[in-house]
Amino acid sequence: MRHTKVKDLLNSTTTLQEVNAKGWVRTFRNNQFIALNDGSTINNIQCVVDFENTPDETLKRITTGAAISVTGNLIESKGAGQSVEIQVTKLEILGDSDAEKFPIQPKNKPSLDFLRENAHLRVRTNMFGAIMRVRSVLSFAVHSYFQQKGFVYVNTPIITGSDAEGAGEMFKVTALPFDNTPRTEDGKVNYKEDFFEKETNLTVSGQLEGETYAMALGQIYTFGPTFRAENSNTSRHLAEFWMIEPEVAFNNLDDNMDLAEDFIQYVIKYALDNCKDDLKFLEARLLDEEKSKPQADRSEMALLEKLNFVLENNFKRVSYTEAIDILRDSTPNKKKKFNYIINEWGADLQSEHERYLVEKHFKCPVILFDYPANIKAFYMRLNDNTEPGKETVRAMDILFPGIGEIVGGSEREERYDVLIEKMKALEIDEEELSWYLDTRRFGSATHAGFGLGFERLVLFVTGMTNIRDVIPFPRTPGNAEF
Ligand code: 4AD
Ligand code: MG
Repeated sequence: MRHTKVKDLLNSTTTLQEVNAKGWVRTFRNNQFIALNDGSTINNIQCVVDFENTPDETLKRITTGAAISVTGNLIESKGAGQSVEIQVTKLEILGDSDAEKFPIQPKNKPSLDFLRENAHLRVRTNMFGAIMRVRSVLSFAVHSYFQQKGFVYVNTPIITGSDAEGAGEMFKVTALPFDNTPRTEDGKVNYKEDFFEKETNLTVSGQLEGETYAMALGQIYTFGPTFRAENSNTSRHLAEFWMIEPEVAFNNLDDNMDLAEDFIQYVIKYALDNCKDDLKFLEARLLDEEKSKPQADRSEMALLEKLNFVLENNFKRVSYTEAIDILRDSTPNKKKKFNYIINEWGADLQSEHERYLVEKHFKCPVILFDYPANIKAFYMRLNDNTEPGKETVRAMDILFPGIGEIVGGSEREERYDVLIEKMKALEIDEEELSWYLDTRRFGSATHAGFGLGFERLVLFVTGMTNIRDVIPFPRTPGNAEF
């Protein structure tokens, strides 16, 4: 007999049929009631064991974490909390789970830290099952959004020779030996002898390659892993994260903001429509977590309310210059509560400032645009009519409550001469990026795009607070277990 998924059994309206279910025991109560979960839903199916006719030996092996197969009648449940249950006629232990040793015991509510160390088993908990199902649905929503709009999905390389962000935060890729490293005459590592015969690294962004494709296919998006060797040990940073990068020919910055806002609202709506049970569970989890926080630190809205709020309200669009004025006059700035005090135009915004703007001042998602040129990447479009010394670029960052920056993007500098000048000023190797410059040499045009950090989106939608909890096996400084 083929087993039926628990999700389908729970949705079933035809009772009194013989069914088979396979899954892992969550709990076993009174020697009679098994809560069985198979990952298809957050909900368990109750399996009622006829303990009088089941050997003691078998009953003892029904422990949390054990894999079992149950066959029996699906009947209407008399108990509260479920509509149907399985009246077990045949029970088979597929894989034992030693109750003394299985680390995920429901009774002693394991901490998130402990679960991180057991990332291979944490997915057996309700919380992580819910998070990972929501993550999966969100990735489908990403593809669904762009495919419906006729964007072409492009797989940009993971190993590259260029630093797209010019920030030097790259992991090197090499097949050279560490002892006896081949050297040039002046003592530098001789990458000519390396696998690719040049210096290579893991990509920090697929944008530059993506741009070349947008300048032929019109609208493209990437969705893949990116890597940053920045030593940021925060609850928002990973060394390996997934990024979605759309790039659209003939779009300007306003179009770019419209696209980003519409896209984010679509994927959140998709999750709300398709992950009801998981989100309800995660909302309750968050409420529970916040009980231990002082009132002032608790979120004003419950999870679902917050997600609906983002759908129903336009993101507030604010220029960098306006934001600086707001921050300069803000109470935490005047009372020197910020770690970085905002004194003048040109300051780079830290996450404390971004969060103040979003959470305290505007109380909604914010799109900041027109940043000072010298705090942003080389490829961003220089604004016309800016004062000398106060040049700005057509950049945008989207800031979210509880998250800070979720999107970074810009209109691109499409003018060859201006771009070359900028690269010279920043000492960016023109030879190395000659292929990129070809987009500006041949048929250049206005275009724009952005990058959305997928894990930051998952954080927002699930209401989790640490980015390590929304990716199956997080990579952070000092941690590459599994
Ligand atoms: O702002 P970033 O660095 O922008 C780019 O990489 C551009 N090339 C994107 C583009 O225009 N195509 O990164 C984009 C987003 C950030 O807003 C953030 O959400 C996420 O990627 N991000 C990270 N997420 C997790 N861990 C990190 N270390 C991250 N760094 C950036
Ligand atoms: Mg950024």
